[in-house]
Amino acid sequence: MSAPRLLIVVASSTGRTARLAEAVAEGGRDAGAAVCVKRADDASGDDLVAADGVILGSGVHMGGIESSMRAFFERAAPLWIEGRLIGKTGAAFVTAGLGARGGAELALLSLLANLAEHGMVLLSMPNRLSRYREGGCHWGPVAWTNPRKGVPGPTAEHLDAARAHGRHVAECTARWLRGAEPPTEVAARSRSSQAAEELDRLARRPPR
Ligand SMILES: Cc1cc2nc3c(=O)[nH]c(=O)nc-3n(C[C@H](O)[C@H](O)[C@H](O)COP(=O)(O)O)c2cc1C
Repeated sequence: MSAPRLLIVVASSTGRTARLAEAVAEGGRDAGAAVCVKRADDASGDDLVAADGVILGSGVHMGGIESSMRAFFERAAPLWIEGRLIGKTGAAFVTAGLGARGGAELALLSLLANLAEHGMVLLSMPNRLSRYREGGCHWGPVAWTNPRKGVPGPTAEHLDAARAHGRHVAECTARWLRGAEPPTEVAARSRSSQAAEELDRLARRPPR
């Protein structure tokens, strides 16, 4: 089986979420995935279709996601109509100014909700992952970048948590792809079958 392809789409005005994105990417690559990081402004529908798993990251703005991520969601809406992302894996991460309040969880949920809208398989962040306590939440990694006390993030601990989650998403995606692969003989037969092509065509037709 080839390496899982992960796409990380990040909305980051001042670079902190982009640093977290690089750590998520490092973790994914450590686990053998081919990882591509794109800014929300630049990511396209083709990027999404080419990926086996998609990880979305955003800075928290006014209690929610950044506007460039929202615009990206809306640009990808035609893929929702065609059901092109169904069955891919999906995960999320954010950075937020203040600890404990301010909308980090809401922003994570908005990112995951968009992936769910596309019929993707959502991957949470298990509390056994490295540095979960400092930089994690069950919805995904979080870095606090302007806390009232302590060091502004992303700290080394936040970056470790993000790396651990990248590894986790890569491993789960590889496992999902392996499990989904039919035995070689069945795959060869269905490739040559017209019925399978017809089913494929119907599955891509927009609902009435
Ligand atoms: C317009 C604006 C609105 C923000 N709103 C929030 C907010 O509601 N809650 C919060 O915790 N932080 C808020 N922040 C702080 C950012 O979430 C924080 O600095 C984040 O790390 C920025 O990520 P970036 O460097 O990737 O852009 C806001 C920042 C900006 C510029």
